[in-house]
Amino acid sequence: MVDYKNPSLVVETASLEPGDITWRSPSNLAIIKYWGKHGKQLPKNPSLSLTLSSAFTDTKVEYRPKETGDPAISLEFFFHQEPNEAFKERVVKFLESVTDIFPFLKQLHLTIHSGNSFPHSSGIASSASAMSALALCLCSLEDRFFNTLEDDEEFDRKASYVARLGSGSACRSIYPVAALWGEFSEVPGSSDLFAVPMQEQVHEVFHSFHDDILIVSSEPKAVSSRVGHELMDTHPFAEARYADARRRLHFLLEAMKKGDLETFGTIAENEALTLHGLMMSSNPSYLLMKPGTISVIERIREFRKETGHPVYFSLDAGPNVHVLYPEEIIYEVRPFIEEQLLPFCEDNQWLQDWVGDGPVEL
Ligand code: DP6
Repeated sequence: MVDYKNPSLVVETASLEPGDITWRSPSNLAIIKYWGKHGKQLPKNPSLSLTLSSAFTDTKVEYRPKETGDPAISLEFFFHQEPNEAFKERVVKFLESVTDIFPFLKQLHLTIHSGNSFPHSSGIASSASAMSALALCLCSLEDRFFNTLEDDEEFDRKASYVARLGSGSACRSIYPVAALWGEFSEVPGSSDLFAVPMQEQVHEVFHSFHDDILIVSSEPKAVSSRVGHELMDTHPFAEARYADARRRLHFLLEAMKKGDLETFGTIAENEALTLHGLMMSSNPSYLLMKPGTISVIERIREFRKETGHPVYFSLDAGPNVHVLYPEEIIYEVRPFIEEQLLPFCEDNQWLQDWVGDGPVEL
């Protein structure tokens, strides 16, 4: 069992020079969804995601030694240059929860600047990119102070572990192309505690796959993901769902290895609708899809039927639609999106995204 508690990671504050660290980390799209958790951010079923590129968070952590011995987290937090109390509260809570992993956090005054590449109010979830960027900064701090994470694989694994504690889906953003989170017997080394890289296990067609995000509505969600996960605890279909996710993962891995787009797409769409089906059948039940979501889904299916092009959809916990397709049909799909799907989007908003190389230190 990996346990990153390490009381020896304390700094000599008298000799510590102030400094800063910045990471850019992308969002990710789960094909097999994580929905339902237990214990300390442990998933009820394994999930598999594609790592994105153009939806990312930049996070800069500035640090200096504290002048007092007060062990409370000392933080100033800016989101797009503005102080943001709500985000600060969440980050303070998260930092408090990882002081046994990074005890030096109690010795520093931190100023964090964070910002997203996509408009904050676009309805695109940012917890995966934000929490992974922050976790990477914390691991870089540790490595800078103690040289303890020189091995890249160990660095990534710890960053993924820490990111998970901030937001489950964030642990998958650490790796390029694709990542799997959750113990799964067919993937050696897989774990509930951190994600593992899957780039080598997926066909090249997925390395340049597209995921254009259509903003059907940017309104804040009526029910948060936190509450959605909780509702799975008493959901009548929960056990069947977790078993089904595992069963599908087996077929998805096989399809992604071969580059079988039809099986991939069928599973991706089924997972998206299952996620929303779970919301509609939970108690209390709720609906996050909007009429535009359904219209976009129907158009995508019609377009696929008419043209034979492998274009599929996915959904996150919200009304926006992810349009999935391989690079080679971009010149057919983009005009289709612009002409037929954008009318269902709020202010014609969409974000062109694609599978990417994972986080970078700036
Ligand atoms: C529907 O990772 O946002 O996007 O762990 O509570 O932060 P917390 O939940 P979060 O849940 C993501 C749910 C999902 C599916 C997925 O990304 O796997």
